[in-house]
Amino acid sequence: MITINEHYTKLTKSYLFVDIAKRVRAFQESHPDTEVIKLGIGDVTRPLPAVAVDALHAAADEMADSETFRGYGPEQGYDFLRNAIAEQDYGSRGVEIPAEDIFVSDGSKCDTGNFQELFTQAQTVAVTDPVYPVYVDTNVMAGRTGHFADGRYEGIVYLEGNRDNGFVPPPPQTPVDLLYLCFPNNPTGSTATREQLAAYVDYARTNGALILFDAAYYAFIRDPDVPQSIYEIPGAETCAVEFRSFSKTAGFTGLRCAFTVVPHQIEVRDSSGTAHRLRDLWMRRHTTKFNGASYPIQRAAAATYSPEGRREVKELNDYYLENARIIRAGVNQIGLTSYGGVNSPYVWVDAGGRDSWELFDELLSSAGVVTTPGAGFGPAGEGFIRISAFNDREKVNTAMERITTALA
Ligand code: MLT
Repeated sequence: MITINEHYTKLTKSYLFVDIAKRVRAFQESHPDTEVIKLGIGDVTRPLPAVAVDALHAAADEMADSETFRGYGPEQGYDFLRNAIAEQDYGSRGVEIPAEDIFVSDGSKCDTGNFQELFTQAQTVAVTDPVYPVYVDTNVMAGRTGHFADGRYEGIVYLEGNRDNGFVPPPPQTPVDLLYLCFPNNPTGSTATREQLAAYVDYARTNGALILFDAAYYAFIRDPDVPQSIYEIPGAETCAVEFRSFSKTAGFTGLRCAFTVVPHQIEVRDSSGTAHRLRDLWMRRHTTKFNGASYPIQRAAAATYSPEGRREVKELNDYYLENARIIRAGVNQIGLTSYGGVNSPYVWVDAGGRDSWELFDELLSSAGVVTTPGAGFGPAGEGFIRISAFNDREKVNTAMERITTALA
């Protein structure tokens, strides 16, 4: 008899964005003439930077020639990309991250989901609420939680983000082992100050915790005082892993390329107390379970670090930031309070006393606009919706006109 991993039975029926896609499909089938505008899942719509397209073409030509053809690459990524990341993402901000601590992959969703498997089931986990569901669900699958009750899993420590703390909750009151953070935050669009990040690092060092820091949206930070990396905080290299992605930064959601930084300074222990380098454990896992992101895609990612590439990436991110500004102005004009959307592509909108799924349904049915109900990110998201700035300008303008008409 085949018996399953029973922890899967604790999960909510489907993944948030699958659930939303189903509702949107049903609506579209019953309203075939409505042009639905998607400001739900954070999926980019603008074309790739031209430097990335050129690099893809050039790499495809290399693959077509027996002299330059490449098979399996290094599982942890080609040096040309790891070096570019070390120098330009970190060195340029005064942070020393050796290329050997960087692991290239095909996505941060997989990396943030997979990282927990290096640890025992007994490890305690803290997440913010609202939260990107991948951090929670993968720990449920691994058996680190009890059952789901009132929107939360037993055994997880939830740090509530709310209006009072600007959606940047303080560190836990109790010791935990793994602490997931995401800034700029998905879903609330909040950013953490240097002092707030320093408090998390201090907590982690005092309690022997590991911070799993998701920086997928760092490229939208324009405020020079907001840290882009957890490693801008002294000491973070001893207690934090950082995840970054080319998906939102350079329009790679359909190409797939990301990386994880596991500083060589981080030590973890086995049950006998023997110390191990966390980086070596991740290297072992990565080389066993992953065969490397494809060569053309790593070439495309590396091209975004050229001077022209950096210019194009900034222009792309500025485009979405302007969309975020339009969304904020639109919702504010109809009397709804918004958060985020500055240094972030997500606008977190106070539903004005409505239930978040109710407002989601209302906007879908009366405006043909897809958003994300805040409750899908956890109970503290109830009473909010998230509007994503990832779409073409014309569609964002039309969506805001329709939302204004529907809710005015
Ligand atoms: C989101 O909309 O929250 C993101 O697109 C999800 C992801 O990056 O996987």
